[in-house]
Amino acid sequence: MKDFKVSAIICAAGKGERAGFSKNKLLAPLSGAPALWHTLKKFNIPEIDEVIVTSSVYDFEEISALCKPLGCKVVSGGETRTQSVKNALEEVSGEIVLIHDGARPFVTKELILNCIDAVKKYGSGICAVKLTDTVVSAAYGEITERLDRESTFRVQTPQGFYTDDIKHAYKLAANKIYTDDSAVYGEFIAPARLIEGDEQNVKLTFKQDFMRDIPTLKDCGNGRVGFGVDVHAFGEGNKLVLGGVEIPFDKAFIAHSDGDVIIHALMDALLSAAGLKDIGHYFPVNDDAYAGADSKELLKRVIVLLRENAYATENISVTVQAEKPRLSPYIDKMKNILSEICNVPVENVAVSAGTTEKLGFVGEGLGVCAYAAVTLKKTNKADK
Ligand code: CTP
Ligand code: MG
Repeated sequence: MKDFKVSAIICAAGKGERAGFSKNKLLAPLSGAPALWHTLKKFNIPEIDEVIVTSSVYDFEEISALCKPLGCKVVSGGETRTQSVKNALEEVSGEIVLIHDGARPFVTKELILNCIDAVKKYGSGICAVKLTDTVVSAAYGEITERLDRESTFRVQTPQGFYTDDIKHAYKLAANKIYTDDSAVYGEFIAPARLIEGDEQNVKLTFKQDFMRDIPTLKDCGNGRVGFGVDVHAFGEGNKLVLGGVEIPFDKAFIAHSDGDVIIHALMDALLSAAGLKDIGHYFPVNDDAYAGADSKELLKRVIVLLRENAYATENISVTVQAEKPRLSPYIDKMKNILSEICNVPVENVAVSAGTTEKLGFVGEGLGVCAYAAVTLKKTNKADK
């Protein structure tokens, strides 16, 4: 029997501007999945009873989709981290709450458990690491003071508190802005208690921070390969959808869905690499739910399925054969779409197109054929 219900707030409502991606850094790929996914998985442990994630309005849909399979609740964040935490605290139902930056996916279970223990022992628990560099104060480029390295720390998250205390502190803080929660607690409740953090528990801030890899489980066997093929015949119409891109043409595919052979071949390759059944099993042609379906949406579902089975896409290589239309103007757009949906850097997505020299059904202009090969890597085991 656990003595306290423990909640976690994961702050994800920032813009991630310093990282310089075209979207919130937390949705950028890290080891084959959105960075935030790794953070959420770390908190998906029996010791945490409830996870509340803050999100801006721009990311609400995407963050909600990540949270759904893990059962996390999403709440609207605010203009500042302080405001985001304040909003999330309103939803907390545990007696203890750990507040954590979504941007720290390298947090360990040990840190999380130590933080909970510290709250029970000392009333708060703030992860922090000692400095290794010499630290000074300076004004106008000149050193004015040398700080004592023994008593100077870099503060991390998670930071744990009794919920009533930290809620009370945030209430008293009114509209003041703080950089972390220990500052709010320290100002209104009591000096916050430091516990040993972890040098690896860095906050993803700049693009280069994303070069770090989440360790995969060596004993699970990495490097799974998958292959898929799809063909569709032309019928009447005025556009084709290939690789998620609409291409004006004097014909259309005869298909139950939008007939996107590139995405269909890719989905089959992904499923086969993960040892799952083929697309016909998950999206049956006789099921009206998929009539005219946007294949991009189906691909998103395949990616979730892979994630649930603890696989992440590593590389994608697609070849499409079409006598007409000319596809080269659309290739870059296709690569961007596939990279975005599959959470793979665009450099790891190859799409090539060619004709078949007027031979066979492709050469006769009767339809289009696509082949896809992928490699997957095993991530952490899926939590039940
Ligand atoms: N955060 C939040 N609400 C805000 C601002 C930030 O929940 N209004 C979250 C971020 O999503 C991040 C954490 O607080 O997980 C730490 O903030 P930071 O690293 O500064 O992230 P961003 O503010 O997103 O990045 P930047 O400052 O580079 O724009
Ligand atoms: Mg910020």
